[in-house]
Amino acid sequence: MSDAQVSSDAVAVPPHPGEQLLATSGGVEVLLVTNASPEADRQLAERLARRAMRDTPFHTPAFTTEDTGDTRIFIAREGGVGIGLAVLRPRPRWAWWSWDDWDAERRPATGVAPMTSWTVETIWVHSTGQGRGLAKQLLDAASDLVDQPITSFGWHRPFTPSGEAFVRRWCPEGFWVPG
Ligand SMILES: CC(C)(COP(=O)(O)OP(=O)(O)OC[C@H]1O[C@@H](n2cnc3c(N)ncnc32)[C@H](O)[C@@H]1OP(=O)(O)O)[C@@H](O)C(=O)NCCC(=O)NCCS
Repeated sequence: MSDAQVSSDAVAVPPHPGEQLLATSGGVEVLLVTNASPEADRQLAERLARRAMRDTPFHTPAFTTEDTGDTRIFIAREGGVGIGLAVLRPRPRWAWWSWDDWDAERRPATGVAPMTSWTVETIWVHSTGQGRGLAKQLLDAASDLVDQPITSFGWHRPFTPSGEAFVRRWCPEGFWVPG
């Protein structure tokens, strides 16, 4: 992809006072936005969620400024541009879906008592940044912040092929299904 193409569909995330910087690694910064963040940050998070949605099967963005819940938005920034996004929300989870059952096209075998768990509503990395561990970097920051291991996150489906490959890599036994 040329620089011109990158910039035409990029979302600028300029450094600004008051931003919540969680981590920096290899030139990539991870920022946190919540509903307690300034309105400008929430609008930025919505712009990125709308951009990310275009590369997923979802028809609604994972975050809009209408949201009033306990939502945590993690943004990966490189060179002043938002190149990755993870949106997590607490949701009741109702089942465990093993990859064995998934692969055999069986429904989740293990029903569980509803329990609230952090759920990955969406995870996205711009095509120019994929395959460099950025999605994992976002989820590591999320896992640290909410104090829950990645293997116990819930996952919002449907998966894309790259999304499924990613979840299989970090949740090798199976995954929690949100209600
Ligand atoms: C899924 C996605 C977020 C992964 O982002 P990423 O930054 O490239 O992922 P990482 O580099 O952290 O990859 C971690 C692991 O996931 C797996 N993986 C990620 N993308 C993969 C792909 N396209 N094919 C196969 N495996 C993949 C690999 O096992 C990888 O580990 P490895 O490099 O040690 O083998 C990215 O491909 C994406 O944004 N896809 C489009 C949007 C989307 O589909 N989101 C999910 C909605 S369900």
